[in-house]
Amino acid sequence: MDKARIGVTGLAVMGRNLARNLARHGHPVAVHNRTSARTKALVEEFGHEGTFLPAETPAGFVASLERPRRLVIMVKAGAPTDAVIEEFAPLLEPGDMIVDGGNAHFADTRRREASLRERGIHFVGAGISGGEEGALHGPSIMPGGSAESYEALGPLLEDISAKVDGTPCCAHVGPDGAGHFVKMVHNGIEYSDMQLIAESYDLLRYAADLTPAEIAEVFRTWNTGRLESYLIEITAEVLAHTDAVTGRPFVDVVLDQAEQKGTGRWTVQTALDLGVPVGGIAEAVFARSVSGHAALRDASRNLPGPPRVRVADPSFADAVEKALYASKIVAYAQGFHEIQAGSAEYGWDIDSGAMATIWRGGCIIRARFLDRIRAAYAADPHTPTLLTDDHFSEAVGDAQGAWRDVVATAARLGIPAPGFSTALAYYDSLRAVRLPAALTQGQRDYFGAHTYRRVDRDGSYHTLWGGDRREVDA
Ligand code: 6PG
Repeated sequence: MDKARIGVTGLAVMGRNLARNLARHGHPVAVHNRTSARTKALVEEFGHEGTFLPAETPAGFVASLERPRRLVIMVKAGAPTDAVIEEFAPLLEPGDMIVDGGNAHFADTRRREASLRERGIHFVGAGISGGEEGALHGPSIMPGGSAESYEALGPLLEDISAKVDGTPCCAHVGPDGAGHFVKMVHNGIEYSDMQLIAESYDLLRYAADLTPAEIAEVFRTWNTGRLESYLIEITAEVLAHTDAVTGRPFVDVVLDQAEQKGTGRWTVQTALDLGVPVGGIAEAVFARSVSGHAALRDASRNLPGPPRVRVADPSFADAVEKALYASKIVAYAQGFHEIQAGSAEYGWDIDSGAMATIWRGGCIIRARFLDRIRAAYAADPHTPTLLTDDHFSEAVGDAQGAWRDVVATAARLGIPAPGFSTALAYYDSLRAVRLPAALTQGQRDYFGAHTYRRVDRDGSYHTLWGGDRREVDA
């Protein structure tokens, strides 16, 4: 019997759909799962879609793969990934490849890549975005690992990825953990995008007094313009949905406590280590965290707030659209800053424009907007921030009046808008000619002799605060 070109182990919904996607594209695919019932079910239900080679044992699975072997593991990130690697690695030979398609932490991927490299095995941490549907119909794929492994894997992965204007949403990100790093930041941006959309909804609902159905219409309209994206599209769907049991808007019967699996948090933790300001992503993570603190929220419910008055201005929705667009630009500027910082720290040489290109389709943050980011990096691959790109600076310049009004309105009415506020504060911080950091430096020098630098000459200095306040070289 012919061998499989690639194999997938771990046949929960993501693994199963990825295997089906491969088979549907004409690639014979070996399939394996810890409990073989899932393998059987996949072949019974979808066997007609292509060539599946079911295997009951790891040895049988490995034996059914052509060489060099391409083995994709789709299991829960963390200890299960290590367990599966340890199960399969001893069965492999030098030159074979293990692809981890889960949401692993990039530091784990670096560790696994280094240890498998010593055994001659390529380990490829591949970020895969797009949920179940994406896995089946075309995800965005962000593979890391060696250039050599990409030569053997790239054509297959590009084949099953989403396409935009004929370009695959898959590209080699960089060595070792680069792929999972970029997927992590993708998710951080996803959190930020979702938070900004949530704040837009909240303002339209509680400042402008619109119903969820009316707000769904607003989002539908926005989705025909520059905000066109998967997340805006599904927002309209969710807001228009009515709960079958109560007849109430679906959004009103869902507990307002957001969950998170960790990738947004990792993005912020990593940004802190790299010293990159990602306030938009951080506030999105914290907003989920605040929402989940039920006891804290219960205890605080009667704290004084301002009277709630309705914003009657018919142009308010347009202002919110502008605030959303400007804040979104900030979220991406921060995310790409983190990618560039990670790339420099780990020597990955990540092409930011290529990342924008592969996020245009298949992934959760896919959006028309990403084409603009691609163009910005094409115009200046080393731009320190997307905000200074001509298109984006013009868009933010045009939006800023409305953006400030929306943030002020939210503050005046007591509606939390942490995403909009932090994005605006970041923008104004970057614009500032002088920041109060000079005062901070003075305080640090006062209480801890931490020294400061001067605007008018080189060197480090300390003022003798406790003595005659002379300045001395530090
Ligand atoms: C994707 C998503 C996906 C992620 C979910 C849930 O790109 O397809 O990012 O990988 O797991 O969005 O994330 P949270 O549970 O943390 O919201």
